[in-house]
Amino acid sequence: MIRTMRDVIVAANWKMHTTPADAGELALVIAGRTRVPGVIRVICPPFVCLAAVGRALAGADGDVGVGAQNLHHEVQGAYTGEVSAAMLVGLATWVIIGHSERRRDAGETDELIGRKLGRAVDAALRPILCVGEQLEEREMGQASLVVRRQLQGAVGPHDPARLSAAGLVIAYEPVWAIGTGRTASGADAATMAGVVRETMGELGFPDHGEMIPVLYGGSVTSSAIDEFMAEPSIDGALVGGASLKPDEMAGIVARAGVTAAARGQTG
Ligand code: PGA
Repeated sequence: MIRTMRDVIVAANWKMHTTPADAGELALVIAGRTRVPGVIRVICPPFVCLAAVGRALAGADGDVGVGAQNLHHEVQGAYTGEVSAAMLVGLATWVIIGHSERRRDAGETDELIGRKLGRAVDAALRPILCVGEQLEEREMGQASLVVRRQLQGAVGPHDPARLSAAGLVIAYEPVWAIGTGRTASGADAATMAGVVRETMGELGFPDHGEMIPVLYGGSVTSSAIDEFMAEPSIDGALVGGASLKPDEMAGIVARAGVTAAARGQTG
């Protein structure tokens, strides 16, 4: 895939919410409320809701991507309860990798996350790789250091041209902003987007990492989104809690659409 401009993306991370009985309807309502030129929309429901969401959206006009929230780092094997990249093919075209809740709850390391990244790309799933510092790390002035280390660990082992061609997206999500109602400032998020691209450049990404979409995540709402979308280095949002609310998603995607229009993205 050749890209000449960075995509504007709003991705919904539904986490452990919705059931196969209600996820399709919610996805359909959100799809209908967020038809905005130039903004790529992605809905990431729980694994068991992927089929229902895919079915519901297949009938909707305007294309909305479907993503998984995780995948396993091995191709197959004796891993009870796990889901491989190949199992997602046909159900999802995107996948969130390395979310801080998985780093925290499942002990995912940068090395493991890097392997997941490889599986995603092998299966032609477009990865959204999450990075971000803890509160103490920010307070100690180590936010940039932490994000650099996360990227070096997860992205470093891969061929940059291949990840770039797979459309790798980075979501900068400061851990202390996730689900807390407290956001980073637009300026801090922009600084961190700069750190992400600089690091990607050092890792050998084409165009010094300038073509990598960087999303902000952490307590994004329709009223908080403006501060981030006003920053030229921020290309959209990864939305948790607010992504279950159609009104909120409508506001968030509409604001992302203003940025897309200003960049001349209308497709
Ligand atoms: P939040 O979650 O919007 O509820 O803070 C964001 C995320 O975890 O991706």
